[in-house]
Amino acid sequence: MYQINSIIYKGKGIVKVILATNNKNKIIEIRNKLIDLHHFEFFPLSSLKNPPEVIEDGDTFEKNALKKAMTISDYSGMAAMSDDSGLEVRALGGKPGVYSARYGGEGLDDAGRNSLILREMRGIEERRARFVCVIVLAFPDGTWKAAEGTCEGEITREPRGGMGFGYDPIFYIPALGKTMAELTIEEKNRHSHRAMALGKAAEILMGPGH
Ligand code: IMP
Repeated sequence: MYQINSIIYKGKGIVKVILATNNKNKIIEIRNKLIDLHHFEFFPLSSLKNPPEVIEDGDTFEKNALKKAMTISDYSGMAAMSDDSGLEVRALGGKPGVYSARYGGEGLDDAGRNSLILREMRGIEERRARFVCVIVLAFPDGTWKAAEGTCEGEITREPRGGMGFGYDPIFYIPALGKTMAELTIEEKNRHSHRAMALGKAAEILMGPGH
């Protein structure tokens, strides 16, 4: 009953998709964004017994996302969806980029990483930055598809807002007059890099124009 023969849903029951991430914030945003995809059920990685650990050693978001989704789809025999994402700051040559999660070393938490970026940006007028998200859908037949989303903004001078996660408090979106951390989840899911990528991923799952 649960089967995918192609990447596009063909009206055969409910398709189970494993979310190949341990990041609770990503899971909340993905589930909220895809809530209307009634033919799909999204399960956390923790629903698998002893899921393999995936080392994110790729030098692009797509390579890391592909590795996560492929590994979990192979292991579970189900479709898997992964998210690799990060912040690219223009004046820092695109850093922290694919190293966003570990920027500054393992000892830092989100607030510490935000302070580090603000220190590195002290005195710099060029503050443009963007968030990038690559979602990969991997299927049990070995096929896969990637969807990318970006969100343009600026690095603030100080953190602002208490919602979201990661670099949200230092990422200002001029069009909205708010930082990403000042957006409700619904607002973030209309504007974020992840929302853009998930919109494309939904098209891949359901087929265009659905
Ligand atoms: P990874 O995709 O697990 O390698 O980690 C992505 C990292 O990029 C997160 O730990 C955050 O630091 C950052 N990041 C990705 N998406 C967001 C977002 O929506 N808001 C804030 N930070 C994000």
